[in-house]
Amino acid sequence: MSNTKDRTIQISEPVTGKEELDALSVPLETGWLTQGPKVKEFEYEFANKHSTKYAFATTSCTTSLHLALSSIGIRPGDEVIVPAFTWVSTANVVVYCGAKPVFVDVRADTYNIDVEKIKDNISFKTKAIIPVHLFGLCADMDEIKSSLPRNVKVIEDAACAVGASYKSRMSGSLGDFGAFSFHPRKIITTGEGGMLTTNDINLAEKAEILRNHGASISEEKRHLGAKPYLLPDFDVLGYNYRMTDLQGAVGLAQLNKLDNFLTERKKWARWYLDEISDIPWIKLPHFSQEFDHSWQAFVVVINEDNSPLSRNEIMEKLLEAGISTRPGTHAVSNLGYYREKFSTKKSDFPVATMLENCSLALPLHNKMEAEDFEYISKIIHSI
Ligand SMILES: Cc1ncc(COP(=O)(O)O)c(C=O)c1O
Repeated sequence: MSNTKDRTIQISEPVTGKEELDALSVPLETGWLTQGPKVKEFEYEFANKHSTKYAFATTSCTTSLHLALSSIGIRPGDEVIVPAFTWVSTANVVVYCGAKPVFVDVRADTYNIDVEKIKDNISFKTKAIIPVHLFGLCADMDEIKSSLPRNVKVIEDAACAVGASYKSRMSGSLGDFGAFSFHPRKIITTGEGGMLTTNDINLAEKAEILRNHGASISEEKRHLGAKPYLLPDFDVLGYNYRMTDLQGAVGLAQLNKLDNFLTERKKWARWYLDEISDIPWIKLPHFSQEFDHSWQAFVVVINEDNSPLSRNEIMEKLLEAGISTRPGTHAVSNLGYYREKFSTKKSDFPVATMLENCSLALPLHNKMEAEDFEYISKIIHSI
């Protein structure tokens, strides 16, 4: 095997094909393009898969999170706890509600919120927490819940955790709400798209209304009902966060592939864990039998104390060899908007800051072949 590749190994690539194309023909032929029967079927199957009573398809995980906070009634003056190391929208949605995100540092081994540090950040204003199942590893939900007062609502940011589980319980069923992403870098995709899950009928009713402009009657019921003169009431300020039936149809086709995607991801994640375990300057991601990781991303940490090159130089070397990598994610607490608005300081989030600087996502997706993984291992070993 040579040290160059004739194509770049992407950090992530969606797997779509004939099944998705065929699925799209149904809404295109029937003309039902907005939220309709395909979205309903997708929601039903998704809820089944994640052991929840309700699932609502949305335009993204970000809008699902916003819907969750709005349904709970988060408003100005409230505080919501979020991990410092995550995608920016986990915190943005709190600001959309006029509330304050309270950042808590994460653990260096799991990259998830550090439960030990939650207690110090709870105040009488704390109304909710958004634990993130980062890269597909569930946050320690039992420990998180037992560290909170009973009135604090728990919203899982399960953007990366479709099909993941925690102590044999599915992601999305572990809190008051679960929010998932179908962005193409995630495990299954609808282009853009998201899902909100819950087991609570009261929260479900609120979320369903808020997703559809705050309308008291859904478009579908109105369209199919026998009273064409009926207009919905709008008693609350809602949003248009509905998914299209085109996306619903693609989502169903993708959901049929989920088990195979997960099996392959697990196989290759374990392969990486074994194959590059001999490299002293790479710290491998946490692996535990109790947490069934969905491996949305395989994120390692470069120990710059003993590595031959810095994290960024390693990323450049890999790119030269045709291997695309990314930093894990952001220390959101350190981003300009949050520093400016909430006077956050880097020094309060040392682990998130270290992870932002030293984490590295290696390619792991369902379009990769054995030779791609072997090639990546060879190049890393040659550094
Ligand atoms: C942890 C986390 N939360 C939220 C999101 C937002 O998802 P979406 O792009 O579907 O809004 C992402 C996307 O990368 C994410 O990684």
